[in-house]
Amino acid sequence: MPGYEIIDDEEKKEILDVLSRKVLLRYEFDKEREGVYKVAEFEREFAKYCGAKHAHAVSSGTAALRVGLAALGISPGDEVITQGFTFVATWESIFDAGAIPVFAEIDDTLCLDPNDLVNRITPRTKAIVPVHMCGGQAQIQEILEVAGQHNIPVLEDTAQSCGASIEGKSLGTFGQLGTFSFDAVKTLTTGEGGMILTDDQDLYVKASEFHDHGHDHNPNVGRGLEKRNFVGVNYRMMELQGAMGLAQLRKLDKVILSRQRENKARIKEALSRIDQVTFRNIPDPEGDAATFIIFLLPTSEKANAFNQVMTDEGAGTVYWYDNPWHYYEQWEHLLEGKSLLRNGYPFKAESGETRCDFKDLNLPKTAALISRAITIQINIHMDEQIPVIIKAIEKAAKVI
Ligand SMILES: Cc1ncc(COP(=O)(O)O)c(C=O)c1O
Repeated sequence: MPGYEIIDDEEKKEILDVLSRKVLLRYEFDKEREGVYKVAEFEREFAKYCGAKHAHAVSSGTAALRVGLAALGISPGDEVITQGFTFVATWESIFDAGAIPVFAEIDDTLCLDPNDLVNRITPRTKAIVPVHMCGGQAQIQEILEVAGQHNIPVLEDTAQSCGASIEGKSLGTFGQLGTFSFDAVKTLTTGEGGMILTDDQDLYVKASEFHDHGHDHNPNVGRGLEKRNFVGVNYRMMELQGAMGLAQLRKLDKVILSRQRENKARIKEALSRIDQVTFRNIPDPEGDAATFIIFLLPTSEKANAFNQVMTDEGAGTVYWYDNPWHYYEQWEHLLEGKSLLRNGYPFKAESGETRCDFKDLNLPKTAALISRAITIQINIHMDEQIPVIIKAIEKAAKVI
């Protein structure tokens, strides 16, 4: 998954190109920058790569979610449906928008279950945020069908599946909006950074203005004289990040995805020899970004036993069931309603009354899947690691 593994002279050249002009802001300084706009160029190239009409860069994947929700007009009191297996940023941004996250089950893709989604929709549901987890794909067409029946917009959180696709169509281009993260451990990295994709001109303009204090980006006046249509924030990406993104994007297909797919295939081959192992459903294996391989054992006891051997052998697995950042039963701050704010918001209203309460959150299907799942992260350079992993797999197979 990590693009940082392949940082080399191409990134350095791009970064030095920015530093040589001393312009770090993505806007303005037209004379000094001599026609070089790295963030804007990264947006154009990323949109082209994904086949989207518009791409808008921001300062992180969390910011991309926040700006996307704002562009959709998500407001205090609205409900936004997402899943109980995701990184906390997905629902943090929903809270940040003033809305209330509603958690649905995952299916065998380990992403939002379209069948359970139906049960979570209420008149207050104003957006659906499926998360394409761990390089794979959600059943996005089925999710869009349910959303369409209720006329609810879909924002795809594609932070973990940059470069993945279904039948050649990039993830992040199915819903009204798609968001990406380029943080330090992502497939493409700009250190910190994010992107919003959309084909909708109106959503694009709103996202662009909201992320930059409301600047209307009128090309006919200087930045200081631009007007505003509404209040905004600052989630701007800077030129150094745009430069990094350009260099990384050029390597996405030929280096990053192709090597990850090769490495994943080698590990999958070893796992496939074990009768009791099944694999997470990847709806279109050809479009798998292959940042992780996730396999399931018949029971959580067997998964634990298998995982213990893998850990003892130094094979570096992830057992999401115990992970405090990605799995709902471990989100004690959410379940216990812990807030930094004096009045307890977002869990409490100004009046002191409860706005939302997650102590009884119960997602049995998600728990049954995640407690049986073992994950191995796929890297770009794994030649030394793969024999260790395969040896560990063979040893672990004997204890189940
Ligand atoms: C599913 C998901 N959404 C959002 C984010 C947030 O991205 P960032 O770290 O760039 O804010 C992450 C980061 O790990 C993620 O995994």
